[in-house]
Amino acid sequence: MKLFDRGGDSEDLVPIEGLRVGVPDDGEQTNPAAKSSFQNVAPFYDELMRQVPYRMWVSYYQLLLSTIESRPRRVLDVACGTGTMTEMLHREGYQMTGFDLSEPMIEIARRKAAKKKLPVEYHVANAVTFDLGQKFDGVLCFFDSLNNITSPDHLQDVFHRVFAHLEPGGSFIFDLNTAFAFRTNMFDQSDLRQQTRLKYDWQGSWDEDTRLITVNMKFWRDEESFSETHIQRAYDLDEVIPMLEEAGFHQIQPFHSYGLTPPRKRSDRIHYAAIKPL
Ligand SMILES: C[S@@+](CC[C@H](N)C(=O)[O-])C[C@H]1O[C@@H](n2cnc3c(N)ncnc32)[C@H](O)[C@@H]1O
Repeated sequence: MKLFDRGGDSEDLVPIEGLRVGVPDDGEQTNPAAKSSFQNVAPFYDELMRQVPYRMWVSYYQLLLSTIESRPRRVLDVACGTGTMTEMLHREGYQMTGFDLSEPMIEIARRKAAKKKLPVEYHVANAVTFDLGQKFDGVLCFFDSLNNITSPDHLQDVFHRVFAHLEPGGSFIFDLNTAFAFRTNMFDQSDLRQQTRLKYDWQGSWDEDTRLITVNMKFWRDEESFSETHIQRAYDLDEVIPMLEEAGFHQIQPFHSYGLTPPRKRSDRIHYAAIKPL
């Protein structure tokens, strides 16, 4: 997840406010305390993601759908953030619903959709426990959102909840960062160029035993500055595939990041496609 080119020096920039983005998932994800995730960063999120190739991701999602011969009409975007990809998928003709744990992210998503008069439905919900009372033909979850679920038991719960929300024959497509990504300092990145309004400097600390990476993130924007700690857990193929099977999925196919080839030893992200049996 390299957002911007590296450059500049952070020595003279001092963050003043502490934020926490992404929480350890030792029960907190189902606890109201987890609601503090992606709160203060929400107003800056779209600015931070400006160079993220969402359009390419939408094309890739559709490529995976056609590869697995899935033709969803009603689609659920899990951990949809501020709804950028949700909106793009709506424009592609899908009937979209999105949800996220963070209220401020959903508020922004709702505001954006209302401004453009888009009939996209948004909810605040936890991927570990969600129950929307409706079913979908497709569920997606992009941009390593599920790495924020730092307990494998809770990731298993997510897979069960997704399965319960799918119609028979429905598809689930998502991505996860791998241990390779974290071991190779994927999160160590910065953009401190003078001409950039939102500057940042991130340093990750990987723990091979817990498989957790703790990323200390510092941001600067005009006179404002803040820092946050983001914790993700790495998940690899040998863990994820049995969990999907346990939830009831079949035709499970992993892909090397944004490709159609199988994952490699050095894949930093794996996309998964799975089907709920008819
Ligand atoms: C990196 S952002 C990705 C957002 C969006 N998918 C995108 O592509 O811009 C990760 C998102 O996961 C959400 N998230 C983290 N844990 C969650 C959980 N347990 N349930 C629902 N959303 C969660 C965060 O609030 C955040 O919006």
